[in-house]
Formats: sequence, structure tokens, C-alpha cells
Amino acid sequence: MSYLTITPNINQNIYNMKSPLFFILFLVFIIHTASAADDVVYDVRGNKVLNNVPYHIGPVVWAKGGGIKLTDKKNNNKICPFNVVQDPAEVNIGGKFSFTQVAKENYLKTSRILGIDSGSAKSGCDVSTFWKIDDAEAKAPKNLITTGGLFDTAASCFQIVQYPKPTSPKIHSYMLQHCPYFCGAGPHTCFNVSVVVDNGVRYLASSGTPFEFVFKKIK
Ligand SMILES: *[C@@H]1O[C@H](CO)[C@@H](O)[C@H](O)[C@H]1NC(C)=O
Repeated sequence: MSYLTITPNINQNIYNMKSPLFFILFLVFIIHTASAADDVVYDVRGNKVLNNVPYHIGPVVWAKGGGIKLTDKKNNNKICPFNVVQDPAEVNIGGKFSFTQVAKENYLKTSRILGIDSGSAKSGCDVSTFWKIDDAEAKAPKNLITTGGLFDTAASCFQIVQYPKPTSPKIHSYMLQHCPYFCGAGPHTCFNVSVVVDNGVRYLASSGTPFEFVFKKIK
């Protein structure tokens, strides 16, 4: 008699254990599907950003300075390799940069390892045109972004991350992180790319408040 009452209880228990599990798996599936659709990177007009194609990048509100560009001067002296800076004039759209994912895909996605290419070399000191940070944990100038990096190496390893509190909910804005460890070596962390002001010049570097930026298609 007791045997008969235990049997349905066991079945009941199995059923109770299974259904939350299936529900969680179902939720994971839904969340995964939603995030897979969401991780594509969009330009300021809402179009998908192409992998390995030049774009302008700059602040959401262009009045807070212009686009990102290279400079071959610091305090009026020639520098080599070049620094990556924000143009002081809001009318200037800046340089052209290709974000090149290590995994070959048509469109850029957030949280993918990538290199940032400044295009063809303009001088002998700019032979390698990928952005790099020599020492993300150091102070300026060692933590400033320069050219001279090699694709898919620790110093040139970046990822795009959705900006946590966007200036405008209607505009897709992002921040960059430098993640040397993802490409092979270095501290087990990612560094937010920020703007460091030195002598009035706005340099991109690996410390401080993350720099919020947008992609602009080249006309
Ligand atoms: C990077 O930026 C995010 C968003 O502002 C912030 O939550 C996080 O603490 C920053 N990380 C570091 C290491 O500063």
C-alpha cells in the first residue's frame, strides 16, 4: 500500500525538477537569440557597420570636439609612431579607420577581438598602421594609443562594447576596450579607452572615463 503511494510521488518529483530546468533552458535560448541579434554594431544612422571597411569615428555630440585622427606632432615636435587624438575642431570629421575582426564576418559585432587599422602607411615611421598600446597599466605617454601595432597581437588587441549609458537612446554609441590578454598576453583584464588631455591635446589612452563614440560612414 505504501509502495503505491510512493510511486506517484517520485514521478511528481521528477516532473517538478524537470520543468524549471526546461524553463531555464528556454530562457537561455531566448536571451541568447536576442543578444545574437543585438550584438551587431550600428553606425550613427542605424546601418550595420561593415567589418574591415574604413569609417570615421567621433563623439556622439560632434560639438564636444571633432573626429578621431592621427597626429605626427606632439608639442610641435615630430613623433614616431603617430598618436591617436580627437580633432579639437568640431567641424573636422577626422581620419578613416578600419575595424578588422580576427574572426572573419561581414559586420562588426560587440565583444569580438579586433584590430584598428589607420590605412596605408604615409611615412616610414608608420609602416605598421594598426593601433597599439605599449603598456596599458602605465601612465602617459606609455598608455597612449599609437600606430605601429601588428594585427592580432596583444598590444593591438581591442574590442567594441556598447556604451553603458548612451547620450541618446536613439543613437548607437560605443566604447573601446583594450584587451591584450584576449590576443595572447598581458593582465587578465580589459582597459577602457578614454580621452587623456595633455597640453590641450585630447589623446586616446587606456585609463579614465570611457570615450563614447559613434561610427560615421565615409561619404
Ligand atoms: C570601464 O567602463 C565601465 C563603464 O563606464 C565601468 O563600469 C568600468 O568600471 C570601467 N572599468 C575600469 C577598469 O575602469
